[in-house]
Amino acid sequence: MNKPYTRELNALKRSGRYRERRIRDESLFDAASNDYLGLAENKELHLKACETLNRYPDHAPKASMLVNGYHPIHAAFEAALCDANGFEAGIVMGSGFNANIGLIEALVRKGDVLLMDEEYHASGVAGARMCEGEVIFFPHNDPSALKTELERAQGKRVIVAVEGIYSMGGDLVPQEIIELAIEHEAILILDEAHSSGVIGEHLMGILDYYAIVPTPLMIKMGTLGKAYWSFGAYVLSSTHISEYLINRAKNVIYATAPSLYDTALAHHALIYIQTHAIVLREEIAARQKIVKEILGITCAGLIVPIEIGDNREVMRLQEQLKNEMGVHVGAIRQPTVKKAILRLIARLEIDEVRLAQVCERLTQIWVK
Ligand SMILES: Cc1ncc(COP(=O)(O)O)c(C=O)c1O
Repeated sequence: MNKPYTRELNALKRSGRYRERRIRDESLFDAASNDYLGLAENKELHLKACETLNRYPDHAPKASMLVNGYHPIHAAFEAALCDANGFEAGIVMGSGFNANIGLIEALVRKGDVLLMDEEYHASGVAGARMCEGEVIFFPHNDPSALKTELERAQGKRVIVAVEGIYSMGGDLVPQEIIELAIEHEAILILDEAHSSGVIGEHLMGILDYYAIVPTPLMIKMGTLGKAYWSFGAYVLSSTHISEYLINRAKNVIYATAPSLYDTALAHHALIYIQTHAIVLREEIAARQKIVKEILGITCAGLIVPIEIGDNREVMRLQEQLKNEMGVHVGAIRQPTVKKAILRLIARLEIDEVRLAQVCERLTQIWVK
């Protein structure tokens, strides 16, 4: 039995779901990654992060935050995030995946009810499996279904988990869902992986977009690996919830503190976003307009989902676009999505002419 998973791997190959890592081909135009603002290659920011690091004798986190790993670089970024987003307290965490698991496992206790949107990210679903409370997945973006569950759970501590912009569908959480959570005094987790840095007057995400002031029951989780072109995550909340997470979230207690370089880089990214918000917003709007005009798709952010349906066909189309146009578009298959999609990311690094060309080609090869 040297290859104990042969049966499973063969089943994946048969159904067209087999995955492989491929080293990034730098010669292709990147219309697949989540580096929305297109700044992952900005060497100036990289040098600034190095300068920040060079001010300190150490450049590695060395230990858990609760042992000796909490560094002034972490604290400064947390304070800047709180300031920018109107929250009382922040904790930087290892990654968005790790943050969702840690958060949900810690927050949802025995006797509590977790109401999670059925399209919530796999990391949240993994956290839900680990928690001790009752877990209910409500239909995607359906306020009336959520209302029914909130009424049913009356009297219990309720945690609602939704995304600002959904990672695959690219759609926004409706304002009504946020308002329902507020009205029912539920704890509200907002996963802002794809909305932070992309929407809102100050590009701070979904609360900024709807002009909602954070309440003591709101928790904003953001990743640093997307618009913030770094790696890691953060959780913003009330001081009370933050105090609780520091005492209960296993990913904070039992893990080495986040990388200092990545935290410093994300801090410079935040400053960049704040100082360039107007121009960035205009560039985002220009790309949304092109996608709307050519593909007829209204994008809340910069994710453009193009439903193909078949797992093998989506891979074939991805290859076709690479060969014909030198463009790399994401190909997302089941079980990540119900129906396979091409996931075009209208990153700001792609100029408008090229984006229009890709959209035009898509209209020719995409059978709606
Ligand atoms: C909605 C959502 N939440 C969380 C994560 C995980 O974040 P990270 O990549 O920082 O681990 C992702 C990543 O793809 C995501 O799309």
